[in-house]
Amino acid sequence: MAPLVKVAPLVKVQGLTKSFGDNQILHGIDLEVAAGEVISIIGPSGSGKTTILRCLNLLERPDGGRIEIDGQMLCEDGAKGRIKFAGKSEIRKVREEVGMVFQRFNLFPHMTALENVIEAPMAVKGIDKAAAKTRALELLDSVGLSHRADHYPLQMSGGQQQRVAIARALAMDPRVMLFDEVTSAVDPELAGEILLVMKQLAEQGMTMIVVTHEMGFAADVSDRVLFIDHGLVVEEGKASQVLGAPQHDRTKAFLKAVLERAPMAPEGEPIDESAPSWEADATVSGDASHIAELESEVARLRQELNTKEATDTPTEGGV
Ligand SMILES: Nc1ncnc2c1ncn2[C@@H]1O[C@H](COP(=O)(O)OP(=O)(O)OP(=O)(O)O)[C@@H](O)[C@H]1O
Ligand SMILES: [Mg+2]
Repeated sequence: MAPLVKVAPLVKVQGLTKSFGDNQILHGIDLEVAAGEVISIIGPSGSGKTTILRCLNLLERPDGGRIEIDGQMLCEDGAKGRIKFAGKSEIRKVREEVGMVFQRFNLFPHMTALENVIEAPMAVKGIDKAAAKTRALELLDSVGLSHRADHYPLQMSGGQQQRVAIARALAMDPRVMLFDEVTSAVDPELAGEILLVMKQLAEQGMTMIVVTHEMGFAADVSDRVLFIDHGLVVEEGKASQVLGAPQHDRTKAFLKAVLERAPMAPEGEPIDESAPSWEADATVSGDASHIAELESEVARLRQELNTKEATDTPTEGGV
């Protein structure tokens, strides 16, 4: 039964536009994300994915449109076509609720993992050091890195650094997490451990907007997928629809190019029975070979995650 009271989306973006000089990058992006939803944003390089995420917490200044997060307006179109922004303290408060993890690790190199995680809660939220440390150790444990608390970024793998970056963002108790291609700068074999942490976070109900080239992750974890091209949402819907039965030629061409690059499951490898079955979904009527390719990619990812779970020591546990 539909709820009597419609819950307002946690993130609401309407008509977002952004130019760099004469180059218009975002042409009117609309996006709504409900609390607990996981959205994957996919699209070609240069299509504006990072710019969308950066506009969401005003790391980039939009030119037009409206952004509202957790009921707080951050910017909206004002008189004479000029955008107007919320006050500094409102913006600061919303930023604290938005965690962001970037493609490059962005950890402070002169600080240990623990120091990286406690820094913002102490500096921004005024949490005392002992409490910040206790929470940081819990978070490092949840990303499987309690044994690396005293290591510096250069002493850790890219995958480990990225998991510290996730713990660091979580230390601010965000209401929504933004991930910008967080696996693309690590060796492919380390991507699985980052994706596992993200998957667990999603299962715990974190609201997440994930820019990704990991189609298996997008298919397996997201509630919805948005395909962006040239600063516009070309196609949007359930992962099974957008990835399994894309309607637009641009989406089809993009997915074909991505899947041709992605490593496929070795021939004869058993497909995980619990993997989502795209054919079973009545709304899916896409090209069968495309769906089969996607299924193998999902199975590969699932197997990677399962192997990881099975071989992890207790300290490498979940979020
Ligand atoms: N600070 C900036 N100044 C000028 N141009 C910029 C700036 N940031 C981004 N751009 C341009 O905006 C366009 C979109 O960039 P953006 O980083 O959002 O794309 P993307 O979809 O995230 O691409 P990728 O998949 O390669 O990360 C690109 O043409 C980029 O060169
Ligand atoms: Mg980008």
